[in-house]
Amino acid sequence: MSIAYRNGALHVEHVALEDIARQHGTPCYVYSSALIRAAYLEYTEALAGRNGLVCYSVKANSNLAVLALLARLGSGFDIVSGGELARVIAAGGDARKVVFSGVGKSEAEIEQVLRARILCLNLESEAELARVSRVASRLGLRAPVAFRVNPDVDPNTHPYISTGLKQNKFGVAHEDAERLYREAAALPGIEVVGIGCHIGSLMGDTGPYVEATERLADLARRLEHAGIRLQHIDVGGGVGIRYRDETQKPIRDFVEGALGALAGRTEQVVFDPGRSLVGNAGVLLTRVEYVKPGDTKNFLVVDAAMNDLQRPALYDAWHDVRPVRAPLAGAAGAATVCDVVGPVCESADFLAKDRALAASEGDLLAVMSAGAYGMSMSSNYNTRPRAAEVMVAGHRIHLVRKRERVEDLYALESVPNEL
Ligand code: LLP
Repeated sequence: MSIAYRNGALHVEHVALEDIARQHGTPCYVYSSALIRAAYLEYTEALAGRNGLVCYSVKANSNLAVLALLARLGSGFDIVSGGELARVIAAGGDARKVVFSGVGKSEAEIEQVLRARILCLNLESEAELARVSRVASRLGLRAPVAFRVNPDVDPNTHPYISTGLKQNKFGVAHEDAERLYREAAALPGIEVVGIGCHIGSLMGDTGPYVEATERLADLARRLEHAGIRLQHIDVGGGVGIRYRDETQKPIRDFVEGALGALAGRTEQVVFDPGRSLVGNAGVLLTRVEYVKPGDTKNFLVVDAAMNDLQRPALYDAWHDVRPVRAPLAGAAGAATVCDVVGPVCESADFLAKDRALAASEGDLLAVMSAGAYGMSMSSNYNTRPRAAEVMVAGHRIHLVRKRERVEDLYALESVPNEL
């Protein structure tokens, strides 16, 4: 099961992308349920025999069908808002397998997750500890907490998605952790259950991951000496995927690396992967509106834009762009260097730059590796309705989010009479 050409046409599992475009139009996100399942099983197989839990990071792709698929496989969830918890529950996920991270948890969110009896709140500051203790005491509950510890390890990734360094806003400093744990253990309404960590996203190599996990193991040891026993160690997410030709260590190596760093420890090991579960399971299907020749290169103006897939504009991210109909052998000479751009009025509105493509008006293109941080980061900029989302399962096409209608976009707005 894969995303590949068959008889000259790009397929997701057994479905031709041309059929999806015909039925549901473009732009359209298309996900392969088999690829998501396979990536999830890579984690659980590498964890076999160890007390482990995979908590899918909802922010990567929060479509209910994606969440439901993972929930049915036994996955837990890593959330960063009350809204994400609502989605997890709506999708049939188990609140007792939910960890809640984020630097700005509101009182209302803390109350919501405590009432739902989630597994753990990953605290990111002393002020948050005080707030959680207060809310839990008011509710007559004990809040299960961990500190997200900042191990000050460089994940060697894009600065916008690196989170484990001292200068980042995330987590508490490694040197402060022991003091905070002692403080937490003495507070009413608090039950210390774990340690959390996430050093950054899109890691190609296991080195920084293993180093960060070793620092967590070391902290767990010191806490044990101080009489604080933990139930789990959350090593975070961040396993990368291949977008282009990067060297990428497989999921198994990351899991084995973390387990090695935690050898001899008996706590449950929690992983919070996002991108590595869904990233390469999705494409953004788009149609060429115009071919616009330029002096130095051509522009392919397509019907998807930065509001649909923000990663190229925001991070200068590279996504492969493939023609849905494979070029005939020998036609390679017809390819010209093109920028693939959208209709949005911003120069940053591009999906790909300087690609050799031979596309004409009306052709379909697939922007690859778009399953993570694609739809979940989309917007309505330029009053563009969000794309439809489709989940493929074998031969079947399921529309899992309808294309928005323009009326939906201003339905919450009103015009005061006296204007
Ligand atoms: N856990 C925590 C606490 C996180 O902050 C994140 C991602 C994850 C897990 C999942 O990381 P992953 O396994 O997906 O790398 N929008 C960016 C990525 C931002 C990641 C934010 N945190 C992008 O499109 O590359």
